[in-house]
Amino acid sequence: MAHCTTPRPKIQVSNFTKRYGDLTVLDNIHFDIREGELVSIVGPTGCGKTTFLNCMSKLTETTEGNIFIDGEVANPVKHNLAFVFQEPTALPWRTVRQNVAYGMEVKKFPRDELQKRLDYILNLVGLEDTADLYPNQISASMMQRIAVARAFAVNPDLLLMDEPYGQLDVKLRFYLEDELVKLWQTLKSTVLFVTHNIEEAVYVAERIIVLTPKPTKVRAEVVVDLPRPRNFLDPKFIEIRRHVTDLIRWW
Ligand SMILES: Nc1ncnc2c1ncn2[C@@H]1O[C@H](COP(=O)(O)OP(=O)(O)O)[C@@H](O)[C@H]1O
Ligand SMILES: [Mg+2]
Repeated sequence: MAHCTTPRPKIQVSNFTKRYGDLTVLDNIHFDIREGELVSIVGPTGCGKTTFLNCMSKLTETTEGNIFIDGEVANPVKHNLAFVFQEPTALPWRTVRQNVAYGMEVKKFPRDELQKRLDYILNLVGLEDTADLYPNQISASMMQRIAVARAFAVNPDLLLMDEPYGQLDVKLRFYLEDELVKLWQTLKSTVLFVTHNIEEAVYVAERIIVLTPKPTKVRAEVVVDLPRPRNFLDPKFIEIRRHVTDLIRWW
């Protein structure tokens, strides 16, 4: 029964268009994401990556087309979407522990489940030692780790990440990319990771959606079938990185 072997994708982006007045930013975008997949979107600055995420969360109105979650039009009231923004966001009056718990409180997790999951996540990312500190006592990269932990904690239908490590220096970025992969592998979340950094996309993603400049279309989808942990110096890694770079340079 062939129809049983291809389940409906978790996320379907269909005929998706966004215009600001006469400016067409996103022009008939199509792609799917499978449940538990980590997909990266790469594209030049200004091509509409943040706009796309804002449309998903309904912060911005979509011009045409739809995003479906489990076959239904995405609805932030009904579906569980989590975000990590480019700028680290932590509530200054809450401790690290209380910041990681925040998303689960908003989603009204039962108290017992919340405590259990909070301990589990803090342990998974090794934040126990800093759990009682306040955001003004920790570094920017630590703040971003909190935002990532908070987002994974709510067990989202879809976790949207908008260049979360773009501001950080290379060494920290490598470390946090490993942490992201570990969280994703352990918690089996469905993740859409936006970046303009091709190497980062090849390092973390199962599949890369390459966008064109405006009016933005999907230029290509590239499967990254490399074993983990991945190695930046592996010739196969370099080959995929070069291929994606060429797809973007072609314009
Ligand atoms: N509120 C807005 N009104 C008009 N144009 C906008 C607005 N927000 C973004 N844009 C334009 O949409 C394009 C895509 O922006 P953005 O989504 O931030 O790109 P990216 O995240 O890929 O760098 C840019 O040309 C930007 O100027
Ligand atoms: Mg952006």
